[in-house]
Amino acid sequence: MSLDSNLDKILIIDFGSQFTQLIVRRIRELGVFSELISHKKIKSSQIKSNVKGIILSGGPLNVYQLNNNLFDNKILKLGIPILGICFGHQILSKFNGGKVKQSNHREFGLTNIHKRNDSLLIKNFFNKKTKKVWMSHADQVTKLPKNFKVVASSENSKFAIVESKINNFFGVQFHPEVTHTENGKKIISNFIFFICKIKRNWSSKDQKKKLIKEVKQQVGTDKVICALSGGVDSSVVAQLLNKAIGKKLYCIFVNTGLLRKHEETQVVKTFKRKLKINLIYVNAEKEFLRKLKNVSDPEKKRKIIGNLFIKIFERYSKKIRNVKFLAQGTLYPDLIESKSVTGSQTSKIKSHHNVGGLPKKMKLKLVEPLKFLFKDEVRKLGLELNLSKEIISRHPFPGPGLAIRMPGVITSEKIKILKEADYYFIKALKDYGLYHKIWQAYAALLPVKTVGVMGDNRTYEYLCLLRAITSEDGMTADFFEFKKSFSQMISNKIVNSIRGINRVVYDITSKPPSTIELE
Ligand code: XMP
Repeated sequence: MSLDSNLDKILIIDFGSQFTQLIVRRIRELGVFSELISHKKIKSSQIKSNVKGIILSGGPLNVYQLNNNLFDNKILKLGIPILGICFGHQILSKFNGGKVKQSNHREFGLTNIHKRNDSLLIKNFFNKKTKKVWMSHADQVTKLPKNFKVVASSENSKFAIVESKINNFFGVQFHPEVTHTENGKKIISNFIFFICKIKRNWSSKDQKKKLIKEVKQQVGTDKVICALSGGVDSSVVAQLLNKAIGKKLYCIFVNTGLLRKHEETQVVKTFKRKLKINLIYVNAEKEFLRKLKNVSDPEKKRKIIGNLFIKIFERYSKKIRNVKFLAQGTLYPDLIESKSVTGSQTSKIKSHHNVGGLPKKMKLKLVEPLKFLFKDEVRKLGLELNLSKEIISRHPFPGPGLAIRMPGVITSEKIKILKEADYYFIKALKDYGLYHKIWQAYAALLPVKTVGVMGDNRTYEYLCLLRAITSEDGMTADFFEFKKSFSQMISNKIVNSIRGINRVVYDITSKPPSTIELE
């Protein structure tokens, strides 16, 4: 991945810490553009004058493993202010003549640090003499290089914050980017504004104008197609392109029959009627159901749905003549190469399908206007583009849809039952003000029938599973704790309203060890 050359920026060199993306996000939240690049990919010669500051991230390596292939240490000689975080702090010390050793006292979790000296980096950070910070390290700096001074220490890390004023080098052994560190954002803000002296240049308003202009420049008078799913990313891409190129955009929306209740009607209403986008609505319910007949293996289901989706998309896109571009909702985390280092396991565990992974063989040029944005930035941009809060803050919904929330074979009867259960659950979350406290929620239909009693009669019907989780990014998750009154209400509502379900269970597993979806 290359650096976006125009804007002034803070460059984050990623050594593989699980928190690196958070550094970029914190800086952007402060209104400044920030980019992330792997330590293996960046050479000092690529760093241009628009890089106003560098942050070296944490990571699992040992500083004595770093050779020229792993890190071009000439970067430290460019005269650019540098903040080293955790492992980055150890790099700064080691390459400037200090020493780093494995510590007898590893520090993980909340730790108190004490102020020892003043520094611009800690301006308004310590309101008392001590501060709680989040540590996560085994190695530590044991000898400071010449010209470095201690700014703060913990019981086990004498050099918890250090600085070298001459070089404009700063090091922190803890993680200011995580929310556990009290007031940690202040450290980042002091570094970028007081030390790097960078000006604010990043807001969703600026983004809207800039991206519309860039799309116009890239596409010219050519036609663009886009697969619309109704989810946040593809909706924002479609509306952005709509604003940029209007009727030269053609959106294709495939109704797989595996969508949530009323979803297709809402998409058509919003995009075709309200936003006046060229929308091609394809009803492929029967085709999907036919291909999925008697298939119960989760991976087979995913593959069948993904492939058929592509086939249908190609079939309809061929009907539009002279298309040159395909618009996709690729986001920044999809691009960042460190993703594999930080270990998103989901893609290895399940073959993901989403509207972003469209056919390479179509030989269309890609328009990926969101590729420098994080999800929260995409949401803000969506609001700037006048998309409704309802679309912007929807829970994620997987490409294979209800198929992976229905273990076992898929039938139209089961789909119908599941759509109803999901509808009641999500509606109740909204009615009780819980929807936005939850990262993702859904109902699933298990391939088990159990005995119940309704009136004086025996019933023998399906088991409905409810799942509601809290999460930051979907990589880890915890189950949401409902009050008994809500659980009781929703269980009654589902069983009483839907023929085919006579029992409701709640999934109380976290991720890991479970995944968010069932298949
Ligand atoms: P898992 O089940 O892997 O899900 O813990 C993590 C997040 O990814 C979503 N998900 C998908 N999204 N295509 C998608 O666009 C897929 O094939 C897919 N599978 C899972 C899931 O809903 C959750 O938000």
